[in-house]
Amino acid sequence: NPYVLRAFDVETSKGNAEEFEDVERSHFPDEFLFGVSTSAYQIEGAILEDGKSLSNWDVFVHKNGTIRNGDTGDIATDHYHRYMEDIEIIHSLGVDAYRFSISWPRILPSGKIGDVNAAGIMFYNRIIDNLLLRGIQPFVTIHHGDMPQLLQERYGGWLSPLIQDEFVHFAETCFKNFGDRVRYWITVNEPNLFVDLAYEMGINPPGHCSPPFGNCSAGNSDTEPLIAMHNMLLAHAKASKLYRQQFQPKQGGLIGIVGSTFMYEPLTDDEHDKEAANRALAFNVAWTFDPLVFGDYPQEMRRYNKNDLPNFTSEEKLLIKDSIDFLGLNHYATLYAKDCIHTSCNCSEASHDTTCAPGGDRAISGFVSTTAERNGVLIGEPTGLVECCYVVPRGMEKIVDYVKNRYHNKPMFITENGYSSPLQQEDQLDDLQHDAKRIEFHKAYLASLARAIRNGADVRGYFVWTLMDDFEWAYGYAVKFGLYSVDHVTLDRIPRSSAKWYRNFLKNTTFSV
Ligand code: NOJ
Repeated sequence: NPYVLRAFDVETSKGNAEEFEDVERSHFPDEFLFGVSTSAYQIEGAILEDGKSLSNWDVFVHKNGTIRNGDTGDIATDHYHRYMEDIEIIHSLGVDAYRFSISWPRILPSGKIGDVNAAGIMFYNRIIDNLLLRGIQPFVTIHHGDMPQLLQERYGGWLSPLIQDEFVHFAETCFKNFGDRVRYWITVNEPNLFVDLAYEMGINPPGHCSPPFGNCSAGNSDTEPLIAMHNMLLAHAKASKLYRQQFQPKQGGLIGIVGSTFMYEPLTDDEHDKEAANRALAFNVAWTFDPLVFGDYPQEMRRYNKNDLPNFTSEEKLLIKDSIDFLGLNHYATLYAKDCIHTSCNCSEASHDTTCAPGGDRAISGFVSTTAERNGVLIGEPTGLVECCYVVPRGMEKIVDYVKNRYHNKPMFITENGYSSPLQQEDQLDDLQHDAKRIEFHKAYLASLARAIRNGADVRGYFVWTLMDDFEWAYGYAVKFGLYSVDHVTLDRIPRSSAKWYRNFLKNTTFSV
């Protein structure tokens, strides 16, 4: 049965033997880039220093009940003041590349009507220069969730088409100031997941949603995510055109986007569930990439979202088609899809994934189950990321194959892959520091990636999420993905076993916990 997945159980090693095959750096192409990944709001802190204005996140986290334990990113890991120490740590790992994002309100506190904040530019210049001095390639994400609150209020965030030109101005400011040294640009991080969290479930700013997704006061969960996504994709396309016309010829870099790319498997062998899994892939992965490669939303979405899915004008189609040099994949886990067209679904069992909206058009994109069993077989250990997803290393190979086949093997980077222990283990500090499971996770996912590359996939890099424990959005500091832990009082960075493993892996030497 090609769909049965075995449990990923690092303690008993009862998993599928392939998941535990050895992996070495030398199994990857010579020019392959290994790195670590972070984002501005999650690590920087210093929210009102040196001319920075408040971001949508700075404001959102201070509203009652938005973030677990009332956590905020006001200080975060204090990277703004400790960036040199962090660059030394990154260097000590022996990585080739570092992916980070630019805080929009730090360099353009008032958007395009205001001045560029020189102190903000200087901060990122220092980061870029110090990375390059150490032979580390900067991978720069222009937008990773945070925008000036002023723009959030003026335009309703991504709901107005007017935000597109604000973003283009932001991107242009980055190309002008940093483009002489940056070879890899990512316009937007995970637009497909962000719009669902922000405009469907209401757990990211501006916190819009409508029943059955929560108790939000504003928003329409059926239409707003589709509109926000439309504006994000067009903003990407405009920035990409500008880069290609005015900067790329001289600067010679590449421009891409990063999608949230979970793998979806049918919950049972039923044909309808298999179709649901295909729809779930189309409604998530292809929703992001199809327009940028082919110039329109996937057929699967056109078929089911007839009324709400926005249209691209013929001019916009020309603009958006072929507007990427590479595809960035953030891949963490596998979800299970159950058909909701031919059978009725209890959406209260659905996971954070938002494809289950009773009554709404999106309901028929497929239902994502929270059950850990498929055909009665335990299919994977839940990730600590969210209560929805399972650690299935084979999912890496499958999602890479899906993207390879659908987009004619366009160059890909795995821009994020990482492990957080389940929340209930938070107090097991020793386990957290001696994180054998995280090491097994990375080894298994890397082995899976190496298989995809051996089978011809053009994947050019892999970034661990993340360097150090940080502000994990709605989960605050409770969910920990770091190779380094961060002492919550002193903010000292302390290497976990996984940091030592990664360093040794990158040196191509063996390491045992
Ligand atoms: C994807 C996001 O890009 C990042 O900000 C987040 O922390 C990780 N996933 C883990 O959830």
